[in-house]
Amino acid sequence: MSGFGNEFATQALPGTLPEGRNSPQKVAHGLYAEQLTGTAFTAPRHANRRSWLYRIRPAAMHGAFSPFEQPRFHNDFQSGPVTPDQLRWDPLPMPEAPTDFVDGLFTMAGNGSAEGQAGIGIHLYAATRSMQDRFFYNADGELLIVPQLGRLRIATELGVLEVEPQEIALIPRGVRFRVELLDGTARGYVCENFGAMFRLPDLGPIGSNGLANPRDFLIPEAAFEDIDAPKDKAFELVGKFQGHLWRADIGHSPLDVVGWHGNYAPCKYDLRRFNTIGTISYDHPDPSIFLVLHSPSDTPGTSNIDFAIFPPRWLVAQDTFRPPWFHRNIASEYMGLIHGAYDAKAEGFVPGGSSLHNSMTGHGPDAATFDKASKADLSRPDVISGTMAFMFETRAVIRPTTQALAARHRQRDYQACWAGLEKHFTG
Ligand SMILES: [Fe+2]
Repeated sequence: MSGFGNEFATQALPGTLPEGRNSPQKVAHGLYAEQLTGTAFTAPRHANRRSWLYRIRPAAMHGAFSPFEQPRFHNDFQSGPVTPDQLRWDPLPMPEAPTDFVDGLFTMAGNGSAEGQAGIGIHLYAATRSMQDRFFYNADGELLIVPQLGRLRIATELGVLEVEPQEIALIPRGVRFRVELLDGTARGYVCENFGAMFRLPDLGPIGSNGLANPRDFLIPEAAFEDIDAPKDKAFELVGKFQGHLWRADIGHSPLDVVGWHGNYAPCKYDLRRFNTIGTISYDHPDPSIFLVLHSPSDTPGTSNIDFAIFPPRWLVAQDTFRPPWFHRNIASEYMGLIHGAYDAKAEGFVPGGSSLHNSMTGHGPDAATFDKASKADLSRPDVISGTMAFMFETRAVIRPTTQALAARHRQRDYQACWAGLEKHFTG
């Protein structure tokens, strides 16, 4: 099904969805009715998100929770000093022992908290096996999954999403799912959104089309599992709640929703469908022109999170330095590279890598890129092809975790990429 935030109705068995009401005395096929709300009951209609699920067993059925040990995946963003250094990392190394999506998560940075319902958690994952008899949900925030290597099959309560690199998946807060690896290994990025749900940006003078078009977001049809755990070996439900992980025994697959209707559902989007807009005269616009999705804050025009991409595009600007300019912003920027090369860096920023430029920290093209672009022949258009970079941008400073700063895959000489910028002053 297609259309960002639409009202959907889908059933895997005919006659599952009740007509004319949500909670009949008896649901068809002996199912239970359950409502899942993702916004306040009284949120304005345009922002109100909820779905009705018709399932084999209600979500309440599982054992008691106890702490789950996965110390690399957390929301401990520290409250002390945060370095203003430019930071960059190589890709997260692939684990040597068999590791699933949950065990393979590694928290890089973040701000805010689930408790405060604002901010972001930024994580990487590197996994070598599918989740087995294990299901996960995140009560703390919506998950934006950005695969960089390997396809994922994400089986959720509301249906199945398959995503490959250059596609993204959005899993709403609370929805239970299992991640299977279709290529044996997988690596990528995860944005955990503690704030308002991601939405498509307003387009202003761009008009009624452009950037990410709503109909390119795909939503799964209902699909259910009717699977009981063996009597002597329960399945495992792992939940993330208030920054910590918990586990409980569960005697059945919770992916047992036979039909559902509503507008609170997972979705996927192919970033290659993005309608990229840029200058056809001189200069280039601010990078807000590359916005795919944003999580608004309580301040109009100032996002909790912006998810922007830097896709293939033509560069035609005249009398213009064509790569991104040198800059310092009030916003803080965490970048990743899915595919190819990024046009502001000649080397060092590789697919699977990350960089972090915090509020008012100077950054921009490296010396080699500046030199090349300053001498480029502007009489011809240039094309950037075979690339896909992205940015998680936030209004609050992004705090790297202790493990990210100490990681062996951190590049400790990143500042050197600007050291070769020569003094050209002739005045
Ligand atoms: Fe930047």
